[in-house]
Amino acid sequence: MPEVIPIGADHAGYELKRRLVEELRALGYEPLDLGTSGPESTDYPDYAHQVASRVEHQDARRGVLLCGTGLGMSYAANRHHGVRAAVAWTPEIARLAREHNDANVLILPARFLSEAEGVEILKTWLDTEFAGGRHSRRVAKIDQEQG
Ligand code: RB5
Repeated sequence: MPEVIPIGADHAGYELKRRLVEELRALGYEPLDLGTSGPESTDYPDYAHQVASRVEHQDARRGVLLCGTGLGMSYAANRHHGVRAAVAWTPEIARLAREHNDANVLILPARFLSEAEGVEILKTWLDTEFAGGRHSRRVAKIDQEQG
């Protein structure tokens, strides 16, 4: 059964999201497009919370979000327990977000990327495994409040 990947964007990420939905399908995944469904102005937290809560409740293993800078989406998504949402603007950052941080939500800063760059970042993130080892200890500490 194909992996279901929830994906959401505000108006700033809407065009690139359309391209990534096609790409996910072409790669054999089942994208679950949670909107927005047009270029009209919307509020990024509405989509961040929908995608992140699916990952938090393990209805999906990973998800994808897009907004203008990626920042608003990351603030909202990272409030969900167990969600590690990473803004990636190059394939290298996407790779490190997986290998070192086990990022389970990819966030793309759509206003700063071409379609081709967005696709490359998505593919790298999808294909990279968490490296484990010393990184497991560090990722576990994310949920331990200190001080
Ligand atoms: C929308 O104009 C913009 O603020 C939003 O897409 C995002 O960049 C917020 O962080």
